[in-house]
Amino acid sequence: MSRTFAPFPATRLRRIRRTEALRGLVRETQLSVTDLIWPVFVMEGENEAHPVPSMPGVSRLSIDRVVAAAREARDLGIPAICLFPYVDPALKTEACELAWDRDNLSNRATRAIKDAVPEIAVMTDVALDPYNANGHDGIVKDGEIVNDETVEALARMALAQAEAGADILGPSDMMDGRIGAIRAALEANGHPNVTIMSYAAKYASAFYGPFRDAVGASGALKGDKKTYQMDPGNAGEALRLVERDLTEGADMVMVKPGMPYLDIARAVKSEFRVPTFAYQVSGEYAMLMAAAENGWLDGEKVMMESLTGFKRAGLDGILTYFAPRAARLLNG
Ligand code: PBG
Repeated sequence: MSRTFAPFPATRLRRIRRTEALRGLVRETQLSVTDLIWPVFVMEGENEAHPVPSMPGVSRLSIDRVVAAAREARDLGIPAICLFPYVDPALKTEACELAWDRDNLSNRATRAIKDAVPEIAVMTDVALDPYNANGHDGIVKDGEIVNDETVEALARMALAQAEAGADILGPSDMMDGRIGAIRAALEANGHPNVTIMSYAAKYASAFYGPFRDAVGASGALKGDKKTYQMDPGNAGEALRLVERDLTEGADMVMVKPGMPYLDIARAVKSEFRVPTFAYQVSGEYAMLMAAAENGWLDGEKVMMESLTGFKRAGLDGILTYFAPRAARLLNG
């Protein structure tokens, strides 16, 4: 008996989800290896790899090992590697002079990578915290993080990094006016082509905990970073910061952390249409890995799902500790 008059859905959206072939055809967002930037921790020594306990699968690496990681990145098709130095606590000072030393650990690592694997883009971090006796991103005077003096130090630091061969400078300090000062220093000193990816909307986040362990800053940090990093409750301010940094000469902007701030990422991308990145930070990596190691989540699947989410939100790329693992999966 026919059921002509039986109710049926006017639109069967499940039709296009029926097979992997159909799902592939209609997929709107595709993660690609060229979307990834791989953050690595650099340490002194030779042939050293010290696991970071709160970041399973991540180790601090001596320069020779970082060069090997850069080769691996190249072979996987990852376009960029981002360096964070682990500095001996005995070398940290209140004035942070080591930050602009041409031969500091980060600059030596940059040179070594650019010598061995020139096609990889090297990104460096412009902030004083690895070199600061008190763990802050800026110079501290009478208990205050002083802005303008810090900006001068950051410009010197950025120049030393550019001279070492860095392709992308990543000011992560959140001082006012640093992008303009760094851009001016680069122009005046023969580095007009060095790009700046501004950590424009960087929040005062508890998700940075494992990173601070990895770079040995946890013990050093006195107080918190709330007078310069953003309040997690704010969105409009993020747009003001991005606009300001673009005006001062940033080529690309970043939102950080990633997953809890995808609304900000989306807003930035749709408002400014500039290359926009997110940093899936150490705490995001740690929580996914911890759950995976407990068997509570499928590590590979949540990794790929989280990275796809960044792309779907409109981002051009992602800084992620998952970079090599995701790249291996993407390359099949
Ligand atoms: C420091 C810096 C931090 C991160 C990148 N650069 C930590 C901080 O601001 O305290 C965090 C990265 C991560 O958590 O993975 N300028």
